[in-house]
Amino acid sequence: MGSPQTLSKRREQIGKRCSCRIHPRIESEIAEFAKSGHLFGVRRKNTNEFVGLCYVVQDSAESNWQLGGLKVTIQKEGIGELLVRFALAHTIVYGVLLQEGKWVQKIMAYVRNDNHAPLRLLTSLGFEHSGIDVFSHEDAPAWMKRNRERGDFVFDEFTFTLDGLRQLAAWFSERFDGALHPSGAEAQIDLAGHNRMEDLTRALRHLAGELDP
Ligand SMILES: CC(C)(COP(=O)(O)OP(=O)(O)OC[C@H]1O[C@@H](n2cnc3c(N)ncnc32)[C@H](O)[C@@H]1OP(=O)(O)O)[C@@H](O)C(=O)NCCC(=O)NCCS
Repeated sequence: MGSPQTLSKRREQIGKRCSCRIHPRIESEIAEFAKSGHLFGVRRKNTNEFVGLCYVVQDSAESNWQLGGLKVTIQKEGIGELLVRFALAHTIVYGVLLQEGKWVQKIMAYVRNDNHAPLRLLTSLGFEHSGIDVFSHEDAPAWMKRNRERGDFVFDEFTFTLDGLRQLAAWFSERFDGALHPSGAEAQIDLAGHNRMEDLTRALRHLAGELDP
């Protein structure tokens, strides 16, 4: 685990290479996210191995939140969908993202436009397309160029919507039946400490109830 000073220096260096919100996270940052409760994971019950991870973090106290690092090891079984739903619910309830039914900080996600798997997942969960970031091949940082010899890099920016929040609250209150879809595998949600899923669901419903119809 790097010291905070080393970390911010490293971030600065990454920032210099890519002056934007899109950058890879280093291992010690991920460890920090885990410690601060911003890393969300799915484990297989019998072996305890991780089969899905994502984080939702802010780079500074004022900035928007970013959903990133999303990856599952077994695709199309519904793991990604449950993981993102839970990460959103947790962030919205325990961060202070809404005041009087309006976002004070938004949740964003950035997806390379040739990566189709997350697009459908994000839009079906209530993210809307809100912009694009384009890097010419010569300006793109080295990590972006991996596996690609030519061409620009285009990232779609997505923002989580109030309508997404309504759907999320309804899904946890009325539709989550303790199973992944389509696989049907049993899904148990554990929260850190003494927090309980019922309280999280109630808080989410309350927040959604404050939104204009
Ligand atoms: C993106 C990712 C996390 C999705 O996780 P997943 O567990 O496979 O997704 P789910 O099974 O929960 O499916 C959620 C939705 O996404 C769709 N989806 C999943 N994989 C897809 C693919 N390869 N192409 C198109 N749609 C896909 C599913 O069809 C589903 O929509 P539907 O219910 O309307 O059919 C997974 O594909 C992954 O780890 N990809 C590699 C890493 C990556 O690209 N991360 C995102 C970086 S921004």
